[in-house]
Amino acid sequence: MATFIPVITIDGPTASGKGTIAHRVATALGWSVLDSGALYRLTALGVQQHGVDASDELAVARIAAQLDVSFQGGRIFMDGQDVGCLIRQEQVGNLASRIAAYLPLRQALLDRQRAFRVAPGLVADGRDMGTVVFPDAPLKIFLVADVRARAERRCKQLKEKGFSANLPDLLKDMRTRDERDRSRVNAPLIAAADAHTVDSSDLTIGETVKLVLDLWSGLGFQATRA
Ligand code: DC
Repeated sequence: MATFIPVITIDGPTASGKGTIAHRVATALGWSVLDSGALYRLTALGVQQHGVDASDELAVARIAAQLDVSFQGGRIFMDGQDVGCLIRQEQVGNLASRIAAYLPLRQALLDRQRAFRVAPGLVADGRDMGTVVFPDAPLKIFLVADVRARAERRCKQLKEKGFSANLPDLLKDMRTRDERDRSRVNAPLIAAADAHTVDSSDLTIGETVKLVLDLWSGLGFQATRA
């Protein structure tokens, strides 16, 4: 009898609310959470801090393979420094989206992501959680929202964190980033064939969390499989 550790994947475009929903669902179920975008952002920050040529795919992958990071509660440390705030900057997100197209980088991060799968379960958010990293996840969500609603959310988040932000620039950046994430050859942003697409434009966080939890309990899933 092998123990099967369930995963709920939540993929979707930038600022669709994946992170917040993933944390709330994980808390409700008592599961771990993986913010895979943070790993791409940490790599981007490492590339900047080490002055690595961002167009050198192998050098970028080496940075990812050597990342010394730890996730402690809501805080993220790299080389002992609290970088949770730094990696949320738009310029780091944009570089993360650029380098995320590199296959050697994606391969370097694969095992690191899968290591988050621990009992009793994992909620993983990103772009390719349901398609590439956890294709056997019993529940896959593809979370979308209107681009303007997402830009407004991101603008509010950035301002709350003390960064400057303006809506027209954010809308432009977000469209560019979505297009790049969707059209890349390696692990593009796409709904898995067996994913439930949820449009959160007109839903509150609480309503979206409930929807995911209802889908999960509707599966009547047993954590242990023969
Ligand atoms: O979710 P986020 O905005 O923090 O992610 C930052 C970038 O990282 C995103 O634009 C694309 C990339 N990413 C990815 O390619 N695959 C993932 N599973 C998560 C993020």
